[in-house]
Formats: sequence, C-alpha cells, structure tokens
Amino acid sequence: MNPAPDPMTLHPVAGQRRVVFLKPLVSNPNIIVGEYSYYDDPDDPTAFERDAVLYAYGPEQLIIGRYCAIASGVRFLMPGANHADLGPSTFPFGILGPPWSDTTMDLVMSAPSRGDTTIGNDVWLGYQALVLPGVTIGHGAVVAAASVVAANVDPYTVVAGNPARVVRRRFDEEDVARLLRAAWWDWPVGLVTQHARVIMAGEPAQLELIATREGLLPGSERARSHAFDANVAAAALKRPYLSQMPFRSGTYSEAVGGSSPPAGLGKVLENDACQRASCSWS
Ligand SMILES: CC(C)(COP(=O)(O)OP(=O)(O)OC[C@H]1O[C@@H](n2cnc3c(N)ncnc32)[C@H](O)[C@@H]1OP(=O)(O)O)[C@@H](O)C(=O)NCCC(=O)NCCS
Repeated sequence: MNPAPDPMTLHPVAGQRRVVFLKPLVSNPNIIVGEYSYYDDPDDPTAFERDAVLYAYGPEQLIIGRYCAIASGVRFLMPGANHADLGPSTFPFGILGPPWSDTTMDLVMSAPSRGDTTIGNDVWLGYQALVLPGVTIGHGAVVAAASVVAANVDPYTVVAGNPARVVRRRFDEEDVARLLRAAWWDWPVGLVTQHARVIMAGEPAQLELIATREGLLPGSERARSHAFDANVAAAALKRPYLSQMPFRSGTYSEAVGGSSPPAGLGKVLENDACQRASCSWS
C-alpha cells in the first residue's frame, strides 16, 4: 500500500490547486493546525489566513485539530471583531487615531475577549459556515452549510442554522465515549491508513478495539507520544508558547472532547488592555 500523503505538502491532490493542507500553509503564530486538515477554495485556498480568519488582531488563537475538512467560504471570526459595549455607543472612536485615540483607546481595548477558538479533530465545516469568536467545536462534529456557530458544539453532533442548533447526534453517548477513547486521529498515520475503511464506515467499538490492541488508549505512553499537542506544534514552528490556550492545564482532547467549555475559556484577557495593545489595527 502506498504511504499516506505528506501532511506538509501544500496541494495534496495532484493537479488540484483548490485544495490545501493547512499545516504547511499557515504562518500566523496565532493559528495552529494539525496534520491533514484541509481547506478548499476554488479561487485561492492559499489566502486562508486573509480570507477565512477574520479580525485576528488580538492574542487569541485559532486551533484546528487533525483531519478537519474546511469548505469554501468558511469564516472564523476572531475576538478582535468585537467592539466594546460599555455605554451608549459601540463606535470604536480610538482606532481612528488622534484626538479620539488619546481619549478612548483604553475603552476600545477593553472589549472583553471570548478567548481562543478551538476546532477539534475530524470536524467537517460545511460551505460558508461562520464560527463566532471563542467557540469550541468538539471532535467529529459536523457544521451544516451556512450555519452560524455562536456556542460550543458537542463532539459528534451535527449542528445547523443561525444560530446553529443540534439537528442530530451522530452516535449515542456510549459510542461517543468509545470514539473519544479510540481517538483515531492520534494514531500513527500508518495505522490510520491501514484502517481507513473502518474509520469511515465501521463501528465505534471496532476503533476502540484497534486502539486497545495497539496500546493507544488514553493515558498510555504511545497515545501520549502521538497526540496532537498544540504547544508542541507551536514550539516546533519556533513560535511562542501558547499562553492563552484554553486547555493549558489539560490535554487538547480533554478540551474539545468534553461537553462543557474548558476552564478559563471566555475569561482570558478579559479587560486586559495591555495584552491587546500589541494588536495591529491596520
Ligand atoms: C448537515 C448536512 C450534512 C446534512 O446532515 P443530516 O444530518 O443528513 O441532516 P438532514 O438533511 O437530515 O437535516 C436535518 C435537519 O437539519 C436541517 N438542515 C440541514 N442542513 C441545514 C443547513 N445548512 N441550514 C439549516 N438547516 C439545515 C434540515 O432542514 C432538517 O431540519 P428538520 O429536522 O427540521 O427537517 C447538510 O445539510 C449540509 O449542510 N452539508 C454541507 C455540505 C457542504 O457544505 N459541503 C461543502 C463541501 S465539503
């Protein structure tokens, strides 16, 4: 069997320029993407950071796991999009320069942050889905076309509409737990390649069995060594450590695998004008 595509290939599909793997593409230190996550755009997928990640002025990060499918027109609205809402006007006087910046810049900078945006592994974001600031989308979720995701999405749920609501759970609770334990996206890619058909169309119990047999269940050394760790990914790219990671005290899987928001999410940088002062407002 041929090896899997190289996750550092920009255009993994021969002769197809509209698809890019994001990992080799992104250069913004606040965007961290796992292997094999791809973005499709008929015009210019290499403009992902400009076209799909909007208002990323602040220190908040966009973290996307492995094996995510991101359709054309998907937009991530980052927290820099939000204006301060402190009194009668939301007009951001300060960004327009003196004299307004002299008197109101601190107010502009005090817009509360909703923290990092975190997309799990194996998430499918449909055509023109809009992901609002600070949202966490769990592993295996599906976001229907043109949905507006305003709140966290549980793993393995299909959400649709504006605001996006759950329209279907892809598996029952026990199977979701099995899938989260199996965490196939953290397997060595050779094993993923070997079992791609079961991953796509098998039973959750089969995946759990493979993970058990291979010593890849959570807590095992082997699982740890293959797990997607955004801090490690950032360090490998010689980027600063991710001080604002919502899952700083836990693992990435814990952050996007659970149904409740990770501790600290939505609280980071609240009213922290100094942190935002380094933003570029161009
Ligand atoms: C989500 C999707 C996969 C369908 O999932 P599904 O579980 O089979 O959903 P169904 O078609 O049975 O619809 C379930 C409900 O969600 C609603 N729904 C589905 N897609 C919706 C959408 N994009 N917006 C709003 N509501 C939607 C349906 O109307 C239905 O509502 P009802 O229960 O009140 O009748 C599909 O609707 C979709 O959006 N696909 C995205 C395709 C895409 O963007 N591809 C880009 C290339 S990767």
